[in-house]
Amino acid sequence: MNYIEQIDTSRLPQHIAIIMDGNGRWAKGKGKLRIFGHHNGVRSVREAIEGSDDLGIKYLTLYTFSSENWNRPKFEVSAIMELLIGTIHKEIANLMEKNVRLNTIGDIEMLPKKAHRELTDAIEKTSKNTGLTLTLALSYSSRREITQAAKSLALKVEQGLIKADDIDEKMFADNLYTGDMPDPELLIRTSGEFRVSNYLLWQIAYAELYFTPKLWPDFRKDDLFEAILDFQKRERRFGMISEQVN
Ligand code: IPE
Ligand code: IPE
Ligand code: MG
Repeated sequence: MNYIEQIDTSRLPQHIAIIMDGNGRWAKGKGKLRIFGHHNGVRSVREAIEGSDDLGIKYLTLYTFSSENWNRPKFEVSAIMELLIGTIHKEIANLMEKNVRLNTIGDIEMLPKKAHRELTDAIEKTSKNTGLTLTLALSYSSRREITQAAKSLALKVEQGLIKADDIDEKMFADNLYTGDMPDPELLIRTSGEFRVSNYLLWQIAYAELYFTPKLWPDFRKDDLFEAILDFQKRERRFGMISEQVN
């Protein structure tokens, strides 16, 4: 039986987050430049979107470029930005056809003007779509996001709009970039690294973590389905005991 046929569609995660890692190593293994890996990672992005769409997953959030990634060699950063611009431009028709709504989280003002423009255009064009919400984390740092939320709440207190005592987890979460999204129930990281690299630290408080040694350019729909199957085998106890959750 195929992976997809084994999935219980009544118990799907609503929101899947992915740390797409291993492009550089994939290219190196083929004796090519790192950027060759980034280019080949685009197909995997398409597969992740299609797989999510096949199942009717509501939210897919992809770690595309971290704030820390700005520290990479200039050549690599500009090649990634060019790839981002070209890919969004090329894929927009596909997103429209799939009824995908594009969204971003992160400090997107930091992106080159052209990338920023391509993104805001695509977000606008797809804003009425009602299928999958595809969120690209770009120039994203979770600590920065949390700090920003703290700042904006502090400002509201300062302006007398709220009282410090009004601040609760819900209000805090609403002030993150992801305010209008449910938390991811499943976080996937490729390339065999076991860390979260400043990604969605608040939001993954109770996410199931799934690590695969596959390098991102080798990631296909079936890898997504395999991760979901693994997720469905887990018992999510949220601090309780087995008898309580069954
Ligand atoms: C992930 O692949 C893509 C980005 C971080 C932009 P890497 O570029 O990190 O690839 P590795 O981890 O060096 O193999
Ligand atoms: C995390 O991957 C960022 C993205 C996938 C965009 P990195 O390759 O940058 O993470 P570290 O540096 O190995 O933790
Ligand atoms: Mg990496």
